[in-house]
Amino acid sequence: MSSSGMTAFVDGPAYTPVARMLHWITVVLVLGMLPAGFIMSRYDVGDAIYNAHKSVGPLILFITLIRLAYRLTHPPKPLPADMMVLEKAVAHATHWGLYALLIAQPIVGWIATSAYPAPVPFFGLFNLPAIWPADKAMSEFMYVWHFRLGILLSLMICAHIAGALFHYFVHKDRILQRMTSATG
Ligand code: HEM
Ligand code: HEM
Repeated sequence: MSSSGMTAFVDGPAYTPVARMLHWITVVLVLGMLPAGFIMSRYDVGDAIYNAHKSVGPLILFITLIRLAYRLTHPPKPLPADMMVLEKAVAHATHWGLYALLIAQPIVGWIATSAYPAPVPFFGLFNLPAIWPADKAMSEFMYVWHFRLGILLSLMICAHIAGALFHYFVHKDRILQRMTSATG
């Protein structure tokens, strides 16, 4: 019997420390961005939250591009061989869907803001360039998509977290630990 569970312990971590760090930095930033976005589009919150949202958004885009390049050159260890094919397919589809949204959502927000036209200040240091010419109709269209993708991202994150917790509490396997420890 070759135990796929055992190899995880002898060959080193499923995800490298860099991959884990990039995952958890993204989690903190995205879990701040979603409520900030939904609140600032509904209530009069002032410039500070707008500016923070417009700074952290492009930062997430940048981190995700680095992370994807790193991911393609440092693939994680495969999921355990005893996991069902369908379960693996759902996990992979969710992960690649999350990557796609982490790229699409900031680009859509940036286009919407550029077309508005409003500035995109980066942590008060300088303004990022406009990536779309002034165009009110385009801005409105893109903000509608920014909202829809925000909902979709929130739902996918809920499914992703539910999956991780399901592995931990119900399957009682070590999938969650793949992203939290060196012995996952
Ligand atoms: C991963 C990155 C991002 C996430 C998760 C995110 C999420 C959201 C969400 C959920 C909303 C609320 C939408 C609504 O209720 O209509 C929102 C609003 C907004 N976002 Fe983002 N966003 C991101 C990146 C960006 C970027 C890069 C910019 C601009 C450079 C931006 C600019 C805005 C603006 C200006 C609003 C307010 C729109 C309004 O007042 O109706 N966002 N964002
Ligand atoms: C904003 C929230 C989150 C986002 C955007 C996110 C995104 C991702 C992405 C894109 C991957 C795929 C990594 C890869 O294979 O390259 C991943 C993996 C993973 N995430 Fe998250 N994640 C989030 C929150 C969480 C939370 C809160 C947990 C724990 C409860 C978690 C646990 C995991 C685990 C265990 C994996 C590895 C799954 C495997 O072994 O294949 N994630 N996450």
